[in-house]
Amino acid sequence: MTASKLCFRSAMILLLAGIVWGLHMAISTDHSAMPAHAHLNLLGFVALFLFGIFYRLHPKVEQSRLALPQVAIWILATIILAVGVGLVHTGHEIGDPIAAISSLVVFADAILFTWLVFTAG
Ligand code: HEM
Repeated sequence: MTASKLCFRSAMILLLAGIVWGLHMAISTDHSAMPAHAHLNLLGFVALFLFGIFYRLHPKVEQSRLALPQVAIWILATIILAVGVGLVHTGHEIGDPIAAISSLVVFADAILFTWLVFTAG
C-alpha cells in the first residue's frame, strides 16, 4: 500500500462517514455535534485527499520511510479527534482529554508533513 493510495481510500471512507453524520444531524435537527462533523470532513477528507495528491506528485517523498506513518497517524488521530469533539459537544466531559491529546497528535503530524513538503524541494 502506498501513502497516496492509503490517503485516497481512507479519505473517501471518512467522507462517507462524515456525510452520514451530517445527514443524521440534518434529519434529527440536532446540530450539537456539528464541530465534530466539520473536523471529520475537513481533516479526514479534504486534508487527507490533498496529502494524497502531494504524495502522488512527489514519488521520492512517497517512498520515504516517513510517508506511510505520517498518513496512518493522521487517520487515527483524526478519527479520535472527531469522537472527542463529538463527545465534548454532546455534554460528555470525557471528550475533553480525548480531543486535547488527539489534537496535539494531529498538530505534531502536521509538522511532520510540513517537513516532508520542505524536503520535496
Ligand atoms: C450530505 C452531506 C452533508 C450534510 C447533510 C451536512 C450537514 C451539515 C449540518 C446539518 C451542519 C450544521 C449546520 C449548522 O448547525 O449551522 C453542517 C455543518 C458543517 N459541515 Fe456539513 N454536511 C455535509 C457534508 C459536508 C462536507 C463534505 C463538508 C466538508 C468537506 C462539510 C463541512 C461542514 C462544516 C465546515 C460545517 C460547519 C459550518 C459552520 O460553522 O456553520 N459538510 N453540515
